[in-house]
Amino acid sequence: MTQSPAKGISSAVAEADPTFLSLTSVSKVYPNGYKAVDALDVDLPEGKMLGLLGPSGCGKTTTLRMIAGLVQNTSGHIRVGGRDVSQEPPHRRDMGLVFQSYALFPHMTVAENVAFGLEMRGISRRDAKGQIEEALEMVRLPGLGSRRPRELSGGQQQRVSLARALVIRPRILLLDEPLSNLDAKLRDEMRVEIREIQKRLKITTLFVTHDQVEALTMCDLVGVMHGGKLAQLGSPEDIYERPNSLFVAEFVGRTNKFRARVTGRNRIEIGSETFSADTQGRISGDVTATVRPHRIALTPDRDRGIVSNHTNAVRGRLLRVTYIGDLIQYDLDIGGQELKVEHHTLSSGPRHVEGEMLMCEWAPADMFVYGDES
Ligand SMILES: Nc1ncnc2c1ncn2[C@@H]1O[C@H](COP(=O)(O)OP(=O)(O)O)[C@@H](O)[C@H]1O
Ligand SMILES: [Mg+2]
Repeated sequence: MTQSPAKGISSAVAEADPTFLSLTSVSKVYPNGYKAVDALDVDLPEGKMLGLLGPSGCGKTTTLRMIAGLVQNTSGHIRVGGRDVSQEPPHRRDMGLVFQSYALFPHMTVAENVAFGLEMRGISRRDAKGQIEEALEMVRLPGLGSRRPRELSGGQQQRVSLARALVIRPRILLLDEPLSNLDAKLRDEMRVEIREIQKRLKITTLFVTHDQVEALTMCDLVGVMHGGKLAQLGSPEDIYERPNSLFVAEFVGRTNKFRARVTGRNRIEIGSETFSADTQGRISGDVTATVRPHRIALTPDRDRGIVSNHTNAVRGRLLRVTYIGDLIQYDLDIGGQELKVEHHTLSSGPRHVEGEMLMCEWAPADMFVYGDES
């Protein structure tokens, strides 16, 4: 049999990007019988950053702690570089951890805090000195080694815990809501900084967060969790543009949501209005339809000629205009239902006024249909 060139290329890609962290059917049942994580499957290539995103209580921290070895998985396999580490104690797994709460020792200096992980591994003070300074430089805190944690700002303390996680040169970096205690401006800065460090070191990273902006902007892959299960795993664009369930569509980004009825192939009805959307093979039945507020164009009703087949269009009366600064939000009444529309202030063109009749239009591809099972 001859080997096709395509196969050669795909195997080269596979070599450059092998799965490094792999969870296979990993579950956790706590001693009280509660199943916090339910048959999780995740493959993360070496050097990539995965954002585990979901609401509070969905099992993110439990997942991270199982990978770290701080919580024993009830079933399934956790593999690092092909080797099952499920039975290994935390210190043998070579993982760097950062928590929301910093978890620094208050009575130790910054340098002693950073050195802690190295000493646990039997590295002498003398050898450690250069590594500590290097780790502090990496997080842009050079020369602050003799300070105490309480003499630092929250952002600086979180940098120290990042330095402490990185100084052991871990095989995997595990971050559990590391930015949640920081104020908004600092959070923006740290987002960029953590991502830059992660890329520079090419360190395989799991980043746990309930904040969709963090997951979408920082990560190569995003796994959305819901009730202990992985609802969707994909690139940030997949997750936002092609949510595979109503849960993901609503949890990631804002969306309008309507009860609708499928009336034929790729045709749905909301109230008495008809729209086009991919009905995923359905030709009848009750569904929920969604469309994102910023994908809806508004034009004055009088400008309308014939509505094209390629567009969904509905007349609406403008109920409210809310100016948010970078955004303007319009709430419209479309035949008894409310439709939210958002435009950037720059691109919004003429401001519409309350009471105005407007034509609301969006592409069928921007409308999603979900059955009740999702
Ligand atoms: N030690 C425990 N015993 C029993 N239930 C727990 C324990 N730790 C966490 N849980 C429960 O497991 C679920 C998932 O928790 P967690 O992994 O911390 O979620 P997240 O980090 O997504 O907020 C929650 O309902 C939580 O109450
Ligand atoms: Mg948590």
